[in-house]
Amino acid sequence: MNNNRLRIAIQKSGRLSKDCQDLLKQLGVKLNLREQRLIAHSTNMPIDVLRVRDDDIPGLVMDGVCDLGIVGENVLVESQAERVGSTQNAEVIKLSKLDFGYCRLALAWPQELGPQDKSWFEGKRIATTYPEILKQYLQRENINASTVMLTGSVEVAPRAGLADAICDLVSTGATLEANGLMQGDTILESKACLIQNANLTDTTKLALIEKLMPRLKGVKQAKE
Ligand code: PRP
Ligand code: ZN
Ligand code: MG
Repeated sequence: MNNNRLRIAIQKSGRLSKDCQDLLKQLGVKLNLREQRLIAHSTNMPIDVLRVRDDDIPGLVMDGVCDLGIVGENVLVESQAERVGSTQNAEVIKLSKLDFGYCRLALAWPQELGPQDKSWFEGKRIATTYPEILKQYLQRENINASTVMLTGSVEVAPRAGLADAICDLVSTGATLEANGLMQGDTILESKACLIQNANLTDTTKLALIEKLMPRLKGVKQAKE
């Protein structure tokens, strides 16, 4: 593998995938994404695109496995909180906020319980993919509740008896609605952002990023 190629991590399949692919196209990066491959080589620029689980993107960029990544701030904040107090590097450079991937991390509980205030959460079990962000919130709000870590299908946890409530991403609200859940407090608002490895020194790669940034600005302005 040619190490001079700029490596960009994007979500393989999920809410951000389509927008990420469109953005790369608008930046003039030609890719053959038809094949279900992990790595797609650009045909017109020294760029390789890695398609991975969104949760893996911050770590890949923090560790320098990828130079750039496009990821939701929610995932970035959670990954950084996970690495606090460890010897692992938790730093990245946030190059730009992007105009897609809007969502909020919110609490939700079974609709049949009706409206509830914060005190209801006392002693409850809350299922989430974002245990660090949730713990910080619970501490801030002085609520004694336990967290149940689930990497997927968080919305079925109350029905399955795994938890009393959930803390999950809400975009359109369709998932909560389909699962009979009522939305409560927003813990974090988020959108997609472009991050860079904090220790990147390769001048060829840095020059390419310098070239892409004004294009990104142009794409963002064109949308306004
Ligand atoms: C989030 C969340 C819900 C869905 C909510 O998942 O976990 O499943 O989006 O969106 P809605 O309000 O529009 O229904 P996400 O797409 O981030 O994927 P992931 O959980 O696989 O990372
Ligand atoms: Zn995910
Ligand atoms: Mg989901």
